[in-house]
Order: sequence, then C-alpha cells, then structure tokens
Amino acid sequence: SAKLHTLAKAAGKLYFGTATDNNELTDTAYTAILDDNTMFGQITPANSMKWDATEPQQGVFTFSGGDQIATLAKTNGMLLRGHNCVWYNQLPSWVSSGSFTAAQLTSIIQNHCSTLVTHYKGQVYAWDVVNEPFNDDGTWRTDVFYNTLGTSYVQIALEAARAADPNAKLYINEYNIEFAGAKATSLLNLVKSLKAADVPLDGIGFQCHFIVGEFSGPGLQTQLSTFAAQGVEVAITELDIRMTLPSTPALLAQQQTDYNSVITACMNVESCIGVTVWDWTDKYSWVPNTFSGQGAACPWDQNFVKKPAFNGIAAGFSA
Ligand code: G3I
Repeated sequence: SAKLHTLAKAAGKLYFGTATDNNELTDTAYTAILDDNTMFGQITPANSMKWDATEPQQGVFTFSGGDQIATLAKTNGMLLRGHNCVWYNQLPSWVSSGSFTAAQLTSIIQNHCSTLVTHYKGQVYAWDVVNEPFNDDGTWRTDVFYNTLGTSYVQIALEAARAADPNAKLYINEYNIEFAGAKATSLLNLVKSLKAADVPLDGIGFQCHFIVGEFSGPGLQTQLSTFAAQGVEVAITELDIRMTLPSTPALLAQQQTDYNSVITACMNVESCIGVTVWDWTDKYSWVPNTFSGQGAACPWDQNFVKKPAFNGIAAGFSA
C-alpha cells in the first residue's frame, strides 16, 4: 500500500512529514507507524522546541524534550524541522510579561535563537525562526517583541539563527496566508523588504490549518507561487483539515478532495519543497482541544486506520 514519503520523493519533493510530540512516543502502536521513514521522511516537534520548553527561566536552557525528537529523526533517517525560535504564544512569563529596553530584548532574542539553533546545529533542515507575526487583518501582532522593537525583531532573530547554523534554512511560518488578503499581503511585503535588505530568509511556511470544504486549492497554488517568486522556497508546514463532528461519509469524501487539492497545489509549484501534517492521527490532533465540536482533521483516524484523506494525499503525489 502507498507510502507517502516515498511517493513525495518520487514526485520530486524533499519530504512528506508529520508533527509529533513527546507524550505520544510512549504509545507503541503510534510509534510503530511513525517510525516508518517511507511513510514520514520528516518530523516537527509540536511543542518541545518552543520557548517555554527550552528557556523556561532566563538563561536556563532545557533541551531534553527537543533532543528526544531530534534523536528520533536521526535514528529514523528523517529530516527535522525546528519549531520555533520567536513566537508570541507559549512564551515563558519572564518573556511575555517582562518589561525590557530595546537593547535588553535584542540580546534576549539573540541569546535564545543562537543557543537553540546552535544546540541543534547540523541536525535541522529548516527552522521556523519567526512564527505567526501578523494578525488576520494584516497588522503586526502587538506582542512583547513588536511592542519593544517594532518590526526589527524579525531581522534580529533571522540574523542570530543564520550565524548559529549557516546550513539551516530559515523560515517565517504563518497561517491564513493561503488565500489572497490583508495578512498575505503584509507577509509578502515583509519578505520583499527583508530580501531588499539582505536579511537571511530562505523559506515561507504555509501552515494550512483548514476546514473541510472551505478553501480553494487554486488560491493556495497562487499564493505559493507568489511567495516563491520572491526567491524563497515554500512548504506546507502544519496541514490538517477539520470538520464539525460527527464525521460522515460525505465529509470524509470532501476531506479527501481537500487534502488532494493541497498536495496538488504543492506539486504544481516547483519551489514547494515538502508537506507536513500537524500529526497524522486524530488521536493526537490539537483541533478538538481548541475548537469545541470539531475534529477528525488528520489523514488517519483515532484508531490509526487510514481515512479517505490518506488516499487523497497519495493520489496527489502520484498524479
Ligand atoms: O505542558 C502542559 C502540561 O504540563 C499540562 O498538564 C497540560 C494540561 O492541559 O497542558 C500542557 O500544555 C499544552 C501543550 O500543548 C503541550 O501539550 C497546552 O495546554 C496546549 O495549549 C498546547 O497546545 C499546543 C498549541 O500549539 C499551543 O498553541 C498544541 O499541542 C500544538 O499542536 C499547537 O501547535 C501550533 C503551532 O505551534 C503553531 N501553529 C498553530 C499550531 C496549532 O495550534
């Protein structure tokens, strides 16, 4: 039966991969599927490389969770995406509610990015250096970084990451840029200005947290091409497609179509280098915890049985 990473490679992509999380790795039925590197050629830690996990107190770094995922990638011969260096969410309180001068926060960002990226130097294909900088209306998120440093925090983080691991691809990762609109325009303008200023930036991550029946594949393809035209690679970094529960055969069929459309959009854009699902099984999806009454967003169900969505992905890479 179909092996998704093998199909992605045969189609000229670098990988098909998945997010995973440390607490899932004690589930041997789960790891039996996760560890198949013909199915998954890349993994992303869903939580354990985030700031709250890696620098819970200023200057005190804890890498045990991240190391477990990095070792898994190495053991299984999978690429690793680092996630993430700077994000408004899952910050330790010393950062999120700290009051810093611009000089202080600059050095805090530099130290965090540098220490994190250096720790995993040589092990990470790509880092989400900056995650979700914009609001949906295209304005900047007014987090501690923007409020203290304005837009310059992006450059500060990217330059620190480049210095720490010159071979890692450096990404900005965002959602709701998969269709034209104010948020996509703001990010595109940021990419243009970073490129014009020679700030290191290699890729844009399209998260792709979708709702069954509510997005347009051609729209996604246009956005992937539009960003790639700025001289960056693009990747689908957090794909899942949720529905209002309970799932029905009709919803699962539409989900298959939607997964297929995402893969097709990536297939049609040469600079789209790979696709990552935000966990492969409904058992460990973040969706039900965040959107009450919604779920069934992944290509395998909660009992690890492949859903029609799986066939949509396989067919997309095989077309
Ligand atoms: O670590 C605590 C644990 O100590 C506590 O017992 C438990 C009780 O709820 O919570 C644990 O923290 C949870 C954490 O995941 C680790 O499991 C948080 O409550 C929970 O909010 C957190 O959710 C994560 C979410 O990011 C937070 O924003 C999801 O697992 C993770 O999949 C999700 O991933 C994000 C990407 O990083 C960025 N893009 C969107 C995507 C989905 O939200």
